Amino acid sequence: MSYIICEKLKMGYEGTDVFENLSFAVNKGDYLCIVGENGSGKSTLMKGLLGLINPISGTIEYGDGLEKKYIGYLPQQNDIQSDFPSSVYEVVLSGTLNRRKLPFYSKEQKKSALDNMEKVGILDLKNKCFQELSGGQQQRVLLARALCATSKLLILDEPITGLDPLASQDFYDLVADLNKGGITIVMVSHDITSAVNHASHILHLAGDGYFYGTTHRYMHSNYGEKFLITNCPCDDCRSNRGGIRL
Ligand SMILES: Nc1ncnc2c1ncn2[C@@H]1O[C@H](COP(=O)(O)OP(=O)(O)O)[C@@H](O)[C@H]1O
Ligand SMILES: [Mg+2]
Repeated sequence: MSYIICEKLKMGYEGTDVFENLSFAVNKGDYLCIVGENGSGKSTLMKGLLGLINPISGTIEYGDGLEKKYIGYLPQQNDIQSDFPSSVYEVVLSGTLNRRKLPFYSKEQKKSALDNMEKVGILDLKNKCFQELSGGQQQRVLLARALCATSKLLILDEPITGLDPLASQDFYDLVADLNKGGITIVMVSHDITSAVNHASHILHLAGDGYFYGTTHRYMHSNYGEKFLITNCPCDDCRSNRGGIRL
C-alpha cells in the first residue's frame, strides 16, 4: 500500500482548472521531485495533498499508516511569515501543534523539538531570534519544525529559493540524509538538475499533460530529453541554442 495515491485528480480555483486527470503515487521511502513551469500547479497540488484545498474531482487516498495531519510541511517562502519575533526553539516547537492536546507543550513535544534541532544541526541556535538568522539557517529551522509533525513524509515547496549555492547544497545533502534515514520526501523544485541528481521519482507538470515515473525513465522521456538537450554543454547543442549555455 502506498502512502498517497492520487487518481484522476483535477484541481483549480473558482472555475479555473489548474490541472486535470493527474494520477500518481508516493510510496514509503520515495524521494519524489515535482517540477514544472511557474503556475503549472505544483503548490496547488501540495496544498491538495495536505488537505488544505479540496480537489474539484478525482481522489487522494492515504495508506500505509499515513494520515494527512501527520505530514510535515515546509511551505513556499512567500506563504511563510518570516518576521515573527519568536526564538528558534519556539518556531520548531510549534511544529508539534498537531499533537497538542493540552494548552501547554508536553515533555514529549519538547524532546521532539530538541531532537529535530539536533538532526538538522541547529541546536546551537536554540535561543536566537528566528528573523535574525541567514536564509539557510531559517530553512533548517523550518525543516526541523516540519519534522516535528512527522516521522514519515515531508513536503517541501521550493525550499532552496533565495539560498546561495553552498547553502542550497547543504540543504539538499540534509534532505538526502533524512530520506536515507527513512523519511519519504516530496519536494517541489525549479532546479531540474538537482532534482534528477537526488530524486527517485519525478512528476513533471506541464500545461498540456504530465510525466510521472522513475528518474531514469524521466531522463529517457520526451520531457526529460528536452531538459537534457537544453542543459547539454556540447558545441552542437549550444549552437542549436544560439550559443547560449544554460
Ligand atoms: N488562491 C488562489 N486563488 C486563485 N488562483 C490561484 C490561487 N493560488 C494559485 N492560483 C493560480 O493557480 C495556478 C497554479 O498556481 P501554483 O499552484 O501556485 O503554481 P506553481 O506552484 O506551479 O507555480 C496559477 O495560475 C495561479 O495564479
Ligand atoms: Mg509554487
